[in-house]
Amino acid sequence: MPKVFQLGYIAVAVADVARTLDYYVKALGTTEVDRDSDGNIYLSVGYQHHDLVLTPASEKAFLHLGYQLNPGTDLDRFAKEVRDFGLKAVKKSDPQPGIAELVEVEGPAGNTFQFFEKIDAPAPGYKPGTVSPLRLGHVAVISPEADKLIAFYRDFLGFWETDWIGDLANFLTCNYEHHVVNVVKAPPSKIHHIAFQLHETADHGRSADLLRAAGVPTKWGPSRHTAGHNLAAYHYDPENTLIELYTDMDVFVPELGFCQPRPWHEHAPMRPKRWGLTELSTWGVDFQFDLATA
Ligand SMILES: [Fe+2]
Repeated sequence: MPKVFQLGYIAVAVADVARTLDYYVKALGTTEVDRDSDGNIYLSVGYQHHDLVLTPASEKAFLHLGYQLNPGTDLDRFAKEVRDFGLKAVKKSDPQPGIAELVEVEGPAGNTFQFFEKIDAPAPGYKPGTVSPLRLGHVAVISPEADKLIAFYRDFLGFWETDWIGDLANFLTCNYEHHVVNVVKAPPSKIHHIAFQLHETADHGRSADLLRAAGVPTKWGPSRHTAGHNLAAYHYDPENTLIELYTDMDVFVPELGFCQPRPWHEHAPMRPKRWGLTELSTWGVDFQFDLATA
């Protein structure tokens, strides 16, 4: 079993804090729950204390990912396991609002991770009149040392590999969803996209209308992907970070080694598969937008 069961939050540095915050609060519909003395802004999708952390900076950057450890995990023991795996791990108390303690890990390929067992849940609620996603679903990261990063996810954290796109992208999960993280093998190290799950498929149209009203164009989709078979649409946030909105993601059943059967699957059963580099849409839709480079 994986050591973590879900993605907790994503921390990014942003240059234009006002515009970015405006998008995340007024268009996407997250709530500012907290702001610490360093100016870090904590945004919640609707339940837990934060799903996204924005750090004011001179230029945009990918800072770290937070993952929630399985209930009952002993943080000291977890930190020792990380060190035994050959990585630096530091346990921190009162590291940030909403989290009493966590283990920060200098992961492979310059990726920093924060592992926590508990996070506050002030439940600020969902915001009508905005995209109002259901939850933070997954993150795709680009890494020049992708193989090391994938090994950490698979061999240390226990993620399952669920698909590949050529030799370019790996899909990994620690729960029922087809992917919680994708790793794209390319330089430089950065976020490829951040994905939020919508309530239902009909919300794709509603979300695109709301984004248009907020001056945010949709760049690709909605269309059904091959890997994960999610119905996905993409747009950029004000910092040019790609944001995916999706529904209908494949449900992976690790005990069986395949995804729950669906009418639109190419195979029955739908086992992990290596897709072609041009096989992004099961519908054959070509939106003239290169997802591989974000
Ligand atoms: Fe995605």
